[in-house]
Amino acid sequence: MGLTSRHSSRFTPIDFIADDTGLVARVQALLDDVEPDRAQMLEALHRIQHELGYVPKEAIPFLAAKFKTTPAMIYGVLTFYSEIRTEPPPRVEVQWCSGPACLLKGSRNIRLALEAEFGCGMNESAPDGALGLRLVQCDGTCHLAPLVRLNGRYIGPLTVTDAIQLARRLKEEARRA
Ligand code: FES
Repeated sequence: MGLTSRHSSRFTPIDFIADDTGLVARVQALLDDVEPDRAQMLEALHRIQHELGYVPKEAIPFLAAKFKTTPAMIYGVLTFYSEIRTEPPPRVEVQWCSGPACLLKGSRNIRLALEAEFGCGMNESAPDGALGLRLVQCDGTCHLAPLVRLNGRYIGPLTVTDAIQLARRLKEEARRA
């Protein structure tokens, strides 16, 4: 009796990402003088983010070729470091502290309220790109816990009601802008 088997592979092809925005050309120009050495990869990603505000996914195939690795490896690096963005930043970003003092004082409910008001998850932007949320670490201002940061200002201690009012004010300002 003959055996039949189906081929299975651990490797999944990566979809081609179309770039009709010129972003890849801008990334190429930015990295013109960077050595194709993996030790330079993080510096290169920071340079791209500094110039463009994020590292576009469209540049992954170029980055893989530049640093002689696979697109999957580049994607892994981009998603490993929380400071690296792969989407354009929102125009106004509320930074939610994920540190222990804030968590102990109820920041999870503040996060849920902000996500519900903005209509987006953490580290995402609302559909119109005006407002967004970003998870940040404790920077030692725990006496204001639970807090958010907005345009370099600390806002806290916050109640859920405060968070909802803040989100609604920001939405109204974004709507009028
Ligand atoms: S835990 Fe949030 S500021 Fe320290």
